[in-house]
Amino acid sequence: MHTAEDPSPPLPRLYSEFAGWFHLLTHPDDYAEEAAFYAALIRENATIPVREVLELGSGGGNSATHLKQHFSLVLSDVSPDMLAVSRTINPALEHIQGDMRTLRLDRQFDAVFVHDAIEYMLTDADLRQAIATAHAHCRPGGVAIFAPDAVKETWRPRTDSGGHDDPDGRGLRFLEWTHDPDPDDTTFICDMAYLLRDPGGAVTCEYDRHVMGLFSRRSWLEWLEDTGFHPHSVPLAHSEVPHGEVEVFIAHKP
Ligand SMILES: C[S@@+](CC[C@H](N)C(=O)[O-])C[C@H]1O[C@@H](n2cnc3c(N)ncnc32)[C@H](O)[C@@H]1O
Repeated sequence: MHTAEDPSPPLPRLYSEFAGWFHLLTHPDDYAEEAAFYAALIRENATIPVREVLELGSGGGNSATHLKQHFSLVLSDVSPDMLAVSRTINPALEHIQGDMRTLRLDRQFDAVFVHDAIEYMLTDADLRQAIATAHAHCRPGGVAIFAPDAVKETWRPRTDSGGHDDPDGRGLRFLEWTHDPDPDDTTFICDMAYLLRDPGGAVTCEYDRHVMGLFSRRSWLEWLEDTGFHPHSVPLAHSEVPHGEVEVFIAHKP
């Protein structure tokens, strides 16, 4: 969140004024295969039985719709609008508003899961704070999973498009364009164009800039270790992702 003390850019419009369109940009069904992979990682890498899991930056609750079949989930996100979107598909789950850098619930969980929301950590200090939050909420023997879309070593500029239609006539199509104006800093840019069709058929076009964080594998592993985790990384196994393109960080709390 953008405050006088916090120089982070404001959240993208997608997570506030366009939050109600989120499930037309990225649909819960699209997350099934990936969520099954994370559920297995959590079980295989924790050395205690895993029942309770905290998700930081749970967004529209898409991963949660699948993970809740395996675990008792608590969801948190900085955006009240995104929490409201998630409640529409996860009404029985506890939702808590909080910034993953500063959230302190005074509770511990068997595992902490941070999916693509981790990419909104833009500086070394941001990422270290989010790691500390995961550590504070993880029981000894538990595990934290961090799943950024890229690390510095493998990041490539790319263009993507997609979208979905609602039975009520609404539809969304997007164009996503990632580029890195300064390869020496810890951010890159994801510029997004949304075509939004209302139930009456009228279409508007909106622009949104997402500033995203990008860190080396070495920084990730070093900061996880500094915080008290025993970390390693594995390639994401997914039918639509070339092997080695995306890396997942697994942090066991001894
Ligand atoms: C791409 S969405 C996450 C979607 C999610 N993986 C899902 O399954 O629906 C990214 C989310 O990160 C959240 N976010 C960004 N900065 C955050 C922060 N500092 N703390 C917590 N959440 C944050 C945004 O509000 C947004 O909901």
